[in-house]
Amino acid sequence: MATIVDFYKGKSVFITGGTGFMGKVLIQRLLTCCPDIQRIYVLVRSTAKESSQERLTSALSTVAFKDICMSDKENLRKVCAISGDMVGVDLGIRHDDLQMLFESVSVVFHTAATVKFDEALKTAIEVNVSGTKKLLALCHEMRQLEAIVHVSTAYSNCHLKKIEEKIYPSPIQPNQLIDALQWMDEGVLKAMTPGLIPPWPNTYTYAKALAETIIISDGSNLKIGIVRPSIVGAAMRFPFPGYIDNYNGPSGLLAAIGKGALRTMLGNRNAIADIVPVDYAVDLMIAVPWHLVNSSSREPQVYNFTSGSVNPLTWGYVQDSTLANFRRNPVDCVYRIPAANFTQNKIVHTFWTLFDHLLPAHLSDLVLMAQGKKPTVVRSYGKLHRALKSLDYFTQGSWDFRSDNVAAIWQSLPLSDRKVFDFELSNLSWKDYMEKFCLGVKVYLLHERLDRLPQARQNFARRVSITRTVLGIVAVILVSIICRKLKLLRHSWVVSLTALFRMVVLLSRLLSSRK
Ligand SMILES: NC(=O)c1ccc[n+]([C@@H]2O[C@H](COP(=O)([O-])OP(=O)(O)OC[C@H]3O[C@@H](n4cnc5c(N)ncnc54)[C@H](OP(=O)(O)O)[C@@H]3O)[C@@H](O)[C@H]2O)c1
Repeated sequence: MATIVDFYKGKSVFITGGTGFMGKVLIQRLLTCCPDIQRIYVLVRSTAKESSQERLTSALSTVAFKDICMSDKENLRKVCAISGDMVGVDLGIRHDDLQMLFESVSVVFHTAATVKFDEALKTAIEVNVSGTKKLLALCHEMRQLEAIVHVSTAYSNCHLKKIEEKIYPSPIQPNQLIDALQWMDEGVLKAMTPGLIPPWPNTYTYAKALAETIIISDGSNLKIGIVRPSIVGAAMRFPFPGYIDNYNGPSGLLAAIGKGALRTMLGNRNAIADIVPVDYAVDLMIAVPWHLVNSSSREPQVYNFTSGSVNPLTWGYVQDSTLANFRRNPVDCVYRIPAANFTQNKIVHTFWTLFDHLLPAHLSDLVLMAQGKKPTVVRSYGKLHRALKSLDYFTQGSWDFRSDNVAAIWQSLPLSDRKVFDFELSNLSWKDYMEKFCLGVKVYLLHERLDRLPQARQNFARRVSITRTVLGIVAVILVSIICRKLKLLRHSWVVSLTALFRMVVLLSRLLSSRK
């Protein structure tokens, strides 16, 4: 049987979402691990300021491609922009580009999606469902096509507790909803959304579920693999340990904890934090076409790429290790000393949100205003709270994901491929991973330099002692005010202070006599 590397030899692939987090890692891995790949066509939207080609060039100039730029810049020439948009007719692709894709593409990776959990339903359906439908229509025209990878999410059926590697029936005919979007007033659709999407918690998972059912209706006679990663976190190894490029999901949480801004969050410490490193997910995606081509099945294959069943990690561990890592390797400039807590109690969470988030935020804004600066802290907390709210459904529950198809691919991989595309999660050390993830947040999100770590540690230690001293002084002032009010307590305050003083003197004498 040919290896994965051989499989891609001389082949051209078409990628949607190549400018995104997973898309960039996918391009980087294909270029570095499959040196004989022919072409990588990437669907890229243009903006008012930049053409598709300019946007692709900027994406290829990012840190993810640093090593390729230095060692083999020519390799990047294999990556070509195809101007388009998931919401356009024929994905907005020009006629001549379409013809070229129809002639040459062997593998399609569909990663483009709007990933905003609370996206307007119209946009979520247009991009994630209708866009998938349009892509499948084009795939039917591709004469060399061997396989398609559709990237979904493990939470596309998160209203169920046990999730198997199969496509579940849709709550509504996706085509009916797509048709309804043509004539329905946006305001009406918005008003209908809260009644339409339950038991799905948000428009993102709802649209992802519908996109999967589109694959059954529109994907007949095509070899399709649906890869469902759970929560995609920073890279373990590639392109660099800790590599991350946006604040979505756990990276935003880690950054907010590291800065000392996030102090309370709704979540169950014992629930499974089903995180997978981006490079592991991408390596599975690269292996899937090889597997599909070598399998006799004509049905779409589903691959739940989740860590919970093979190597469980809990939110409690994520919280503790994030705090420990950011105390050991602090960010350059903390807002407050990191201290965060997951709680399942909504009253406790509301209390701490008011007193540990909003009160200090308002005070900080007052200080900024007194300095003649723009108050920004309360606004930032508004954003953080909205992000937390969209995540708390996932931090409070656990899901039982079955992942036999992922295990089957791994078992069938030739040894040489296992070394290159190592997506086996059971061997992953979470201690090691969390350390890399936190350092990745520092380097790739906050753009801090690791050679400045000693200075950051010094600043952090100074900040800790200042905070402790201030808190100590405040505590003494408070206690003395209370004692002054209560005569009896005043007496015991003096007595205990005297006793404390005597103990300190005694201890220091004892210690000096030992020396
Ligand atoms: N990250 C996770 O935790 C996670 C977990 C499970 C599944 N997934 C799935 O993995 C895939 C990739 O996620 P990601 O984290 O890489 O997301 P991302 O960084 O937000 O990237 C999304 C990509 O989709 C493109 N896109 C969005 N709307 C488009 C449109 N109308 N036309 C053309 N392209 C469009 C974006 O292009 P622009 O650059 O033009 O915006 C971008 O390249 C998604 O399908 C997502 O559902 C992600």
